[in-house]
Amino acid sequence: MADEKSIMSYETVELDDENSALVILDQTRLPNEVEILHLKTQQEIWDAIYLLQVRGAPAIGVAAGFGVYLAAKEIRTENRAEFDARFHEAKEFLNSARPTAVNLSWALNRMEQVLKDHPEASVAEAVALLKAESEEIKAEDVWMCRSIGEYGLTLIKDGDGILTHCNAGQLATSKYGTALAPIHLGRERGMNFRVFCDETRPLLQGARLSSFELLADGVDTTVICDNMASQVMKNGWVNAVFVGCDRVAANGDACNKIGTSGVAILAKYYGIPFYVLGPTSTIDMSIEKGEDITIEQRKPEEVTEMWYKKRMAPEGVKVYNPAFDFADHELITGIVTEYGIARPPYTESLKEIFRKKEEAQKAKRKD
Ligand code: MRU
Repeated sequence: MADEKSIMSYETVELDDENSALVILDQTRLPNEVEILHLKTQQEIWDAIYLLQVRGAPAIGVAAGFGVYLAAKEIRTENRAEFDARFHEAKEFLNSARPTAVNLSWALNRMEQVLKDHPEASVAEAVALLKAESEEIKAEDVWMCRSIGEYGLTLIKDGDGILTHCNAGQLATSKYGTALAPIHLGRERGMNFRVFCDETRPLLQGARLSSFELLADGVDTTVICDNMASQVMKNGWVNAVFVGCDRVAANGDACNKIGTSGVAILAKYYGIPFYVLGPTSTIDMSIEKGEDITIEQRKPEEVTEMWYKKRMAPEGVKVYNPAFDFADHELITGIVTEYGIARPPYTESLKEIFRKKEEAQKAKRKD
């Protein structure tokens, strides 16, 4: 087992500009090994996103920002039009790695916007601006997660039982996480929670990653198989459900790791508040409802072979392996963002969150 006590001090995603590398903590090796990868080519970065070596919506966004900056550094031309065209190609390539988490395209579009905003800049100046923007995306991620943690903490009290699905923790972001941010922040303030981590089939982000980072932070942590959530709720052990999100539609439907929808239905049945925690960069106001979100389908082997010494399902059997589903907005008690907690009706409250964001950004520009 990797050194649990030190994992919280590792960076999930980092830029090593001197060596032109994207540095990530390989999440496919955790919890048994802490392996740091130095990715230099665009194909390596694409593979790392596809293979979930770096994963979690915010972390993917940060990785893509640094990744496309590294691509920009490699473009050998002094001609801005040619530079912009080749940058666009690199951006589209990274964007094709995974379809569901909107943070990937959000970060890449934000990087490209820098070029659009500075048409007069030389290639060298454009590269410098891209570097600054990628660093800003990461810095903002830390701030957003901390703010989400603060708002999330107002929803729970010391000693509460929290159930979470997948990993929306520090490993999925630059620091703190989203769904797990209130827990980590609460720990900093001497609070204690009992956290139940759904194992999260088929890739076990709950059993491998959430439980690992929570234990490392000294949290009372219990792993349960996904089909045990109902019993744990029935036992009265869960005061609130906290989950992350990969894309939230304008009506509040929240797409997250497969199984989230079932957890939301159970929470409703048992009268347990169900909260979705995520930054505004994960809210896609251009998408009206959950059904319109593209759901990533992944390889059958993840279900039939991974984690088993021998293949466990018969050869030739059909496999359905969607990576995400969405919790219907009617099942969601609140959506916790860095600008506050949106409550139903989400068609209104999410717009209000974006209004607050706009105001905050205006005030920042004035400073
Ligand atoms: O396939 P993954 O592991 O990238 O899925 C991650 C999730 O579903 C997380 O809950 C979500 O990205 C939020 S991470 C703060």
